[in-house]
Amino acid sequence: MSNVEINAEELEYDIQNKIPLLILDLRDASNFMKGHIEGSANAKFSSEQQKQAVMSRLPRDQKIVLIDENGTESSQNANMLARFGFNAHYLKEGLKSWKKHLVKSSQETALSNENLWNSLKNNEDVFLLDVREPMEFAEFKIPGAVNVPLSELFTEKGADQIPKNKKIVTICSHGNRSMVATFALAQKGLESTSLEGGMSRWNQVLNAQTAVKQDDLIIIQVEKVGKGCLSHIVGSNGEAMVIDPTYPPAKYVEFAEKEGLKITKVIDTHQHADHVSAAKELAKMTSAELYFSAREEYSVEHKKAHDGESIPVGNKQIRVMHTPGHTAGSMTYVVDEVYAFVGDTLFVESIGRPDLRDKAEEFAFELHETLHNKLLNLPPDAKIFPTHHGEGVQPTENGIFYTTPKMAKQLSLLDLSKEDFVKKVVSMATPRPMNYSMVIKVNKGTIPIMEEQVPDLEMGPNRCSVQ
Ligand SMILES: [Fe+2]
Repeated sequence: MSNVEINAEELEYDIQNKIPLLILDLRDASNFMKGHIEGSANAKFSSEQQKQAVMSRLPRDQKIVLIDENGTESSQNANMLARFGFNAHYLKEGLKSWKKHLVKSSQETALSNENLWNSLKNNEDVFLLDVREPMEFAEFKIPGAVNVPLSELFTEKGADQIPKNKKIVTICSHGNRSMVATFALAQKGLESTSLEGGMSRWNQVLNAQTAVKQDDLIIIQVEKVGKGCLSHIVGSNGEAMVIDPTYPPAKYVEFAEKEGLKITKVIDTHQHADHVSAAKELAKMTSAELYFSAREEYSVEHKKAHDGESIPVGNKQIRVMHTPGHTAGSMTYVVDEVYAFVGDTLFVESIGRPDLRDKAEEFAFELHETLHNKLLNLPPDAKIFPTHHGEGVQPTENGIFYTTPKMAKQLSLLDLSKEDFVKKVVSMATPRPMNYSMVIKVNKGTIPIMEEQVPDLEMGPNRCSVQ
């Protein structure tokens, strides 16, 4: 394995003669950004597991040169790769031996889910390059992303699809393939940034916006951007109730504190099947009272929310209304008779799917009752806040998703007789959310979960509405 080591002259010769090379710089991102060999990419790993995942994805038919400060770590890694059959090398004595000029990075080598969200929110011109396989991409993606699978990026054809004048963010499921994509792009002379944790972390971004501010009442809508889950903070007189919180729960504390609110109550509208509820965790974190529907089973200690009762929050009384159909125990919470939190019973674009508990017909019947005799009886302009919005559904107003009885009456499904409604809804088979039976068990409290397991369990789009 004597040829694993190369010196600065040999490397310079290869670069000048345009020999295809993957030059991977193992130093910290900040040192890399301050100055690196032109055409190299930063390969700093957050864990041994990530290092192995990334290295196993390197192409076997290309010459790989590892670089660090002095040739120690790079030597070990190059020898390991060579043992596994890669054409791997390292620069003898590292960057210390490199006398030619170094280039600075114009962008970070990796970015967090929140930073990507901030740049998209600010309409920055970012090219989202999703390097997963087409099947994965079709299932679930960031709107606007372009799909070029990783293997194609190493070819001429794949690289031709990449713009030269935009900030490129590479995306995959967990942030490993996207890092290898930055290597492929660097080889082509393009800088890029890898989304840390990939789609699995992207799924966990929470964005808060004020939906209602009136006298003493504030309603904050929190959107789980990647999945379209919506949850709400209802505040009054310094106190707040959180409805349908999702992970990560600490964000709700931050959002509430910003408005001078202390979370004293946490409640779910129903037992969710498509995302992990953070209600238990948030209640524990804030010592708030935890409520669940009195008509559902939970194996954790909680207070029961009964049909017709009122739960006080600050100066407000929140009315509990049983609205079965999506699930048998679904509850709607009503504030001042003009703001309603309906869970997955009614959406901006559709109605809740009644089939997740295998009793589609019975549930569809109840859903018709709930919609026509309860929700549509609220004042015509009452704001009805759902717990999801479908892919591609635009906010109703100022970034906020809501519907009203007046708007909901335009949905063609709500024009049908009860018999036709049941027939139609039962026939509309939608694929079930990924992992839904496991998610239900976690939300019931029968299976414990660690926060770091949540992103993978929730992977995929939400599928609680009829489409
Ligand atoms: Fe649901």
